[in-house]
Amino acid sequence: MSDTDHFSTLSVHAGEARQKPGDSLTDPIFCASTYSFESTAAVIEYNEKKLPREEYGRYGNPNEKTAEKKLAALEGAEDAILYSSGMAAIVGLLMTKLSAGDEVVFFDECYHRSREFCVKHMSRFGVVTKQVKTGDYAAMEQAITPQTKLLISESPTNPHLSVIDLEKFVAVAKRHGVETLIDATLGTPHNIRPIAAGVDYVLHSATKYLAGHNDLLAGVILGKTAQLEPVRKLRGILGAINSPHNIYLLLRGLKTFDLRMERHNANGLAVARFLAAHPKVERVYYPGLESHPYYEVAKRNMRGFGGLVTFTIRGADWKQTARVVDSVKIPRIAPSLGGVESLIEQPLVMSYLDYPPEVREQFGIYDNMIRLACGIEDTQDLIDDLKQALEQI
Ligand SMILES: Cc1ncc(COP(=O)(O)O)c(C=O)c1O
Repeated sequence: MSDTDHFSTLSVHAGEARQKPGDSLTDPIFCASTYSFESTAAVIEYNEKKLPREEYGRYGNPNEKTAEKKLAALEGAEDAILYSSGMAAIVGLLMTKLSAGDEVVFFDECYHRSREFCVKHMSRFGVVTKQVKTGDYAAMEQAITPQTKLLISESPTNPHLSVIDLEKFVAVAKRHGVETLIDATLGTPHNIRPIAAGVDYVLHSATKYLAGHNDLLAGVILGKTAQLEPVRKLRGILGAINSPHNIYLLLRGLKTFDLRMERHNANGLAVARFLAAHPKVERVYYPGLESHPYYEVAKRNMRGFGGLVTFTIRGADWKQTARVVDSVKIPRIAPSLGGVESLIEQPLVMSYLDYPPEVREQFGIYDNMIRLACGIEDTQDLIDDLKQALEQI
C-alpha cells in the first residue's frame, strides 16, 4: 500500500513487523552500538550479503530500518535514509552527489541554511551554486550548463509559502538530464507527492510535521534505492545517524501523522481566512487562499495547505508587530513548525536580525511580518487568541 487513501493505516502499521521481539506490540528500542555474530561463518555470510542483519550502529539499527520503511511507504518511495537532522540529510545528499566542477541551481526561497551550506562550504570543494527567482522556470533552465548536476527547491517555501509546479520543475530537469531535489518539509507526504511527479530525491526535516511533537531532530532523504545507495554508504562514513531513543519517538509520532495533518491543514486554512478578513492585517501568505499568487498551482499540487501562515500587520513597525507576538496566549514564541503546539515568531527578530535592511527587503522579510505555525489546538481557540492579540495594537 502506498496510496494516500490508506494514509492513516500506513502511518500506524507500515514498516513494522507483525510479530516483534518479546511479543511486544510496540517496537522495542535497540540500544546496541554493535551486533554480535554467532560464528566466523556468520560474519562471512554477512559480508557476502547472504544474511541481512545489523553489524555496527553507524551503518544501521533495527529501529531505524522500521522508521525508514514507514517513511518510504508514506512517501510512495522505494527507499528512505534516516539522519540525525534535516540538515544532516541534505548535507549527506549533496556531499554524495556533487564533486569539484559540478554546479547546483536553487530556487532562492529555499531553506537558508541549505543555500548557505552550498554557497559557503560546497564552494570550498569546487562546487558552484546558482540561485534563481523562485517559480521562474525559464531562469532555472537558463542557469543549467553541462556541469549542472542538481536542481533544488523547497515546496511550499518558508515563510512565503510559494508552491512549486512540480511538473514544470521536473520537465526542465529532464530536458537536460539533471537530477532534482524537493525539500518537502512544509508540504509533507500528506499534502504533496513529489516522487509521483517524477522528482528524484525528497528531503524532509522530520523534526517538523513527521515527528510532530517538538521533541526531537531527524531528517530523511527518499528516492530510488539504486540512486540512494552511495548516499547510504557515505552516511555510514559521515556518521550523521539518529539515536534509537529518538527513532522510537519518531515512530510513535508517525502513528498519528495523518490525523495531525488533517488538523494542521484545517487550522491553517481557518486561521488564514480569519486573518485575511481582519482590518489590521495587511497581507496573508497562505497557499489555500485564492488571493495567494500560487493558489492555482497549490490546488493542483497539494492535498491540504499545511499549518504555516505568514502575515503582515497593516502600518505596524517592528515593535507594534512584536506586541502582537507577545500578546498571544496559546502559541509559544519559538522557531520551528509542524509540532502539536502552535509556535509564533517575527522572522526579522528570530532569523534575520544580522542582515542589513536592504538584504531583508530582497528576501521579502518585512519588519511587520509574523509567522504562525498552527499546531493541533482547537481552531476557534487559536482564532480567539489572535483576535485578542490584534486588539493590543
Ligand atoms: C524547510 C526546511 N528544511 C530543512 C530544515 C533543516 O532541518 P533540521 O532543523 O531538522 O536540521 C529546516 C529547519 O528549519 C526547514 O525548515
